[in-house]
Amino acid sequence: MAYKINEELIEKIKDTVNIVDLVSRYVNLKPAGSNYVGLCPFHQEKTPSFTVSESKNLFHCFGCGEGGDLISFVMKIENLSFIESIKLLADMYNIPIESYDNSYSQETKKEKERLYEINREAALFYIYNLRRNPKALKYLKERNIGQDTMIKFGLGYASNSWNELYDYLKNKGYEDGDIEKVGLISKRKDNTGYYDKFRNRIMFPIVDNKNRIIGFGGRILDVGKPKYLNSPDTIIFEKGKNLYGINLVHKMPNREKIILVEGYMDVISLFAYGINYSVASLGTAFTQDQAKLLKRYSKNIYICYDSDNAGIKATLKALDILEREDVEPKVIILPKDFDPDDFIKEKGLDEFKKLEENALSSIDYRIYILKKKYNLNKVEEKIRFTKEAAKLLRALKSPIEKDVYIDKISKETNIAREAIGKEVFGNSYKPNTTIYKDKYISGKNRHNKSEISPVKAVLEPAHLKAEKNLLKLMIQNIDYYKRIKNHLSREDFLNYECKILVNIIYDEYENNPYLKELDINLILGKLKNEENIDYEIIDEITNIHIVAEDIYKFIEDSINTVKYFKLKFERKIVANKIKELDLKKQKNKGDVEELKRLCLKLTELDKELKTHL
Ligand code: CTP
Ligand code: MN
Repeated sequence: MAYKINEELIEKIKDTVNIVDLVSRYVNLKPAGSNYVGLCPFHQEKTPSFTVSESKNLFHCFGCGEGGDLISFVMKIENLSFIESIKLLADMYNIPIESYDNSYSQETKKEKERLYEINREAALFYIYNLRRNPKALKYLKERNIGQDTMIKFGLGYASNSWNELYDYLKNKGYEDGDIEKVGLISKRKDNTGYYDKFRNRIMFPIVDNKNRIIGFGGRILDVGKPKYLNSPDTIIFEKGKNLYGINLVHKMPNREKIILVEGYMDVISLFAYGINYSVASLGTAFTQDQAKLLKRYSKNIYICYDSDNAGIKATLKALDILEREDVEPKVIILPKDFDPDDFIKEKGLDEFKKLEENALSSIDYRIYILKKKYNLNKVEEKIRFTKEAAKLLRALKSPIEKDVYIDKISKETNIAREAIGKEVFGNSYKPNTTIYKDKYISGKNRHNKSEISPVKAVLEPAHLKAEKNLLKLMIQNIDYYKRIKNHLSREDFLNYECKILVNIIYDEYENNPYLKELDINLILGKLKNEENIDYEIIDEITNIHIVAEDIYKFIEDSINTVKYFKLKFERKIVANKIKELDLKKQKNKGDVEELKRLCLKLTELDKELKTHL
């Protein structure tokens, strides 16, 4: 084959091809922690030790030691030469190999290198400028940006001059054409020369994951328009394919999560306060390519946009885009009129962390936004809300999830589960149980509660609800207790308060076999010795009123829910352990054995979980 493979094509392939997608064409992969595992195609094995890391774009088999990147994977599995593998990959992923003609590409490569160099020179010039400009320094100081942060982000200042940068770069020997191509200068209208495009602005160099300066953002120092000016798209800068801050995320050893924010200053402020895992899209709406890039770095993506209407709209759109990439994004909700930069400055890191912990899942967020649009005290609006919400629920994949949310919406609106279920599942829907519930169902009480804390308006976790219902039933009747005890041990209850209650209930029945039911006051009395109890949960249990068509079916369903969540919980622990071990650089034999054992366990848990769906 007469192909001379050029580096650009190789880079393009590495950027385009997702290794998990590629390997999945040959091997059945399952997620395991931050990686994927499967049976190794290069040696015989019964338990999976073949691991693929999406973020690192690498594979490795702990059984036979085979490993490498996507090109070596193809070479090995298809038994092809390097060049043949490149050609095959380009074919598989529709990368036009012809456009990587060698002579052309050598030239472009050189050109690109010149442009990167000009950007680097400009950035250094801006940094130098900032140091000697008290006004710009004062501005940054007022925005709480210290020396360290300035250095970390390479912040600079473009003077209020029409030619300072141009003269400087010309002096260094760069050509007009190149400086113009990279977007730092423009031709004067009367064709008498060039002028600097960035003037009187704080300069933010935009750095890609290979540490090259691909463009700039510039914020006006005083008031003036536009507030932010960005480099135009060039051959080294495609705005829709890059993210501000990705260079720093790239350097992090474990990319547990990433927060997507709107602006340069958000990324910088969060970083200054210790949140070193945020990125911003670059003056354009969030794109599908940016979602692909993000997904390569982490599965846990949080969106934290401004809380105004534009921010909400952008959030809903970003959710769609991320969900198309099969990530399950979450949303961090800021109080009114805050952006992340303002918020962390005013409230501090801990408060921001709290918001992060309370981030809403996509469906919770969509319902939350929908709820804000309607006044649920008005019948017509309540109906419209419920219909819209049912539409959202229809899009959920898991029937369990659907069911749980149907219940939530029913509680929220006082509209029967059955009616909502029919909207979601169609007319054949029959609810297994009908539960009319607790003190929050009617009157003022419930309303106040959701108004105080919008975040709390999110659904109560399904397992907590099941645990509470089961406890209530056991207190009511020894027969229910016997039935539940046969399937659930004390340890199966996950909630702290429920665990304490289940111990009391089991003890009471075991010690007093003649009891037919338990006295609630006696139980409350025993709770006095316990510390740190959230009495709201106890209170809710006491006030639950269960009405079910078939109580034994109801009990069975609740038991299954508790078991399901216990399995999910176990799965999370195993997955975390795998992730931890996998991150270890030097693995000894024991580690490898443990990894194998854990992977096996994970597969078992997944199997068991499947039977619950
Ligand atoms: N943006 C832009 N061009 C504009 C305005 C905004 O490219 N004319 C982009 C910038 O990336 C900016 C982000 O949108 O960082 C958010 O803009 P905005 O919310 O208006 O500004 P803040 O980030 O709040 O900026 P600051 O705090 O500096 O006022
Ligand atoms: Mn701001």
